[in-house]
Order: sequence, then C-alpha cells, then structure tokens
Amino acid sequence: MDVDIIQQIRERASKQTKTIVFPESGDPRVLQAASYLVEENICDIKLLGNREELISSEKKAVRESVKRLSDYFIEEGLERDLLINHLYNRRKQKGISREEAEAKLKDPLYLGALLVATGAANGCVAGSIATTGDVIRAAIHSIGLREGNDTVSSTFLMALKNQPPLTYADCGVVPYPNAEQLADIAIESARTHLLLTQEKPKVAMLSFSTKGSAQHDRTELVVEATNIAKQKNPNLEIDGELQFDAAFVPEVAQRKAPESPIKGQANVLIFPNLDAGNIAYKITERLAGASATGPILQGLAKPMLDLSRGCSWQDIVNAACVAILMGE
Ligand SMILES: CC(C)(COP(=O)(O)OP(=O)(O)OC[C@H]1O[C@@H](n2cnc3c(N)ncnc32)[C@H](O)[C@@H]1OP(=O)(O)O)[C@@H](O)C(=O)NCCC(=O)NCCS
Repeated sequence: MDVDIIQQIRERASKQTKTIVFPESGDPRVLQAASYLVEENICDIKLLGNREELISSEKKAVRESVKRLSDYFIEEGLERDLLINHLYNRRKQKGISREEAEAKLKDPLYLGALLVATGAANGCVAGSIATTGDVIRAAIHSIGLREGNDTVSSTFLMALKNQPPLTYADCGVVPYPNAEQLADIAIESARTHLLLTQEKPKVAMLSFSTKGSAQHDRTELVVEATNIAKQKNPNLEIDGELQFDAAFVPEVAQRKAPESPIKGQANVLIFPNLDAGNIAYKITERLAGASATGPILQGLAKPMLDLSRGCSWQDIVNAACVAILMGE
C-alpha cells in the first residue's frame, strides 16, 4: 500500500513550528495522540478541559496522560475577553448578545475554534466525541469561511497501491450541493490536494454522462458548476461533466472526451452529491484496499479538522499534521 503520502505529510508538518489545539482532552485517544505529537517534536499542542477533574478520572490511561501533559492544559491563562469579543463581533448581526457569546466559551469546540480564529493556535482537531455538525457549526461561527468561498465541505485523501494519491469530495458535509456549492467544493478540493500532495490538481466533475452523452437536470448542474469554477479560478485544470472512466482512464478519455484537458489523468474527483461521494470513498477503501485519510474539512479561513468518532489515535496524529499543512 502506498502509505508514503501519510508519512510525507507527517514529515512536512513536523518541519513547521505550529500549535494545534485539542478540545476533547478527556478522550484517551486524543491524549495518546497529543503525547506522540509532543514526544516526536511534530508540533506544540494546547489541551482544553479541566485538568483537575481529568486527573481524578476513572480511567487510568487518562489520569496518567493528564499528569504527563499537565503543562499543556491552558484554561487558566486564556484571554477570555479577546475570545468573547471575537465571537460577538462575528455573530452580532445574527443577533447574538455578549452574554451568549460568553456562554459559548464553555463549549470546548467553540473555545478551540476561537483560539485558532484569534491566532493563539494554528489549527484545531476535534470530533472524536462531538458530532460533525457540532464541529462544523463551531468552525463556521468562530473562524468563518475562506475569502471567495461560501461552502464548507470535506475531502478524503485516498492512498492507493502503486499510484499517486487521489482526493475525493464532498464525502461528508453538503448532501445535495447546488452549482455554486459544487464549484466551491471543486476549487477548495484542488487547493487541499495541492497543499497535501504537492501535486498539480486535475479536477474531474463527475456525472453519469460524458460531454452531453446524456441530458438531464443533474448533468446540467455539473456542467454549470464546472463553468462557475472556471470563471472563479481560470487557472484551474478542471473539466466536466465526465464519467469516472473518462476522467481516470486515458484510453477511455481519448474515445469519450478527446478534447478534455484532463486526458484521463484526474487526481481530484468531485462527486455530484454526498450519496455518491460517501459511497465511492468507502468502496475504494474496501474493494481497492485504499487507505482513506479524512474527513478533511475545507473551505474555512483557518484549519479546523473533524475526526470520525471511530478514529484511532494515529488518525488524530494524521489529522493534526493535515491541519498544519492546510494552514500554509
Ligand atoms: C454543516 C451542517 C452542520 C449545517 O447544518 P445546519 O442545520 O444547516 O446548521 P445551521 O442551520 O445551524 O447553520 C449554521 C450556519 O452555517 C451555515 N452553513 C451550514 N452549512 C454550511 C456549509 N456547508 N458551508 C457554509 N456554511 C454553512 C448556515 O448558513 C448557518 O449560517 P448562519 O448561522 O450564519 O446563518 C450540516 O450540514 C451537517 O450536519 N452536515 C454534516 C452531515 C453529516 O452528518 N455528515 C457526516 C456523515 S457523512
């Protein structure tokens, strides 16, 4: 299996001097990942949560890790006014009061996101306990979106045997994107692919039709999204609508889409909806033996990464390294 890409991401991340905040420090997997990141000198960390309570946890692994990582718990020294002001200023037009903004600081997801938003940390990794929806909401409200982009989405980085890595999107956030959202997903996925793999992105807007072979509202939406993405980012190498084989197999591309700039060499696959994206990444994992890294949240002004609740501590290390590179 070509797991080199994950190793490369870890090595590149460790060359930077970044700080990652973990809101869910009561989770033994988070503590194990945090210990590893510190011991291997990959990055600095900040842990949220009540250290004293955690030290008397029923779980021995938690008690021991918390003692070892004691210096990284930061609740006491926080500049609360700065964080409250930041959230209040971002959300006051939506009707939030200062008291409500203050109350949000009790939510570690908001606290973590606000530390990133105000520059006290470079990235936040959460979601081993919290739901995807809660992580995304905290990120959108506290950090906000990248300029020029209106959509948060997520990719999976797929490492396959003997071939370059692929980026799949959206696999976890927007169930039925409209054309503008699909264009945003394509542009952000290309950026993510470049940051993580250092390979030039070649984006395929996937469909059940290639270049008008079928006519349907769903294929027209993909064509419209492709045109919007080209307008927004004229330098992007992108084409659609394409079937997977026309996007991925040069001989089929030659037959079905001879004019396509992608030439059957797509490395960023944009699925028309969440059903397709989520099913495709799991099929690739199970049938092709790919290793899937993600979900990688993208489209935010600064990195906040979501974890799957079934994640391992190594997945959390990988997410921290991805967050570091996403902030480049
Ligand atoms: C992202 C998600 C949380 C948004 O849910 P929602 O019910 O629309 O959330 P809210 O109504 O609380 O919206 C929060 C804010 O984020 C905005 N927003 C929601 N989804 C957004 C997106 N994908 N991109 C950008 N902004 C988004 C909303 O417009 C809203 O903005 P506002 O508060 O400034 O008006 C929801 O789509 C979700 O849970 N997705 C995850 C799906 C999932 O469970 N995946 C896991 C398995 S695949």
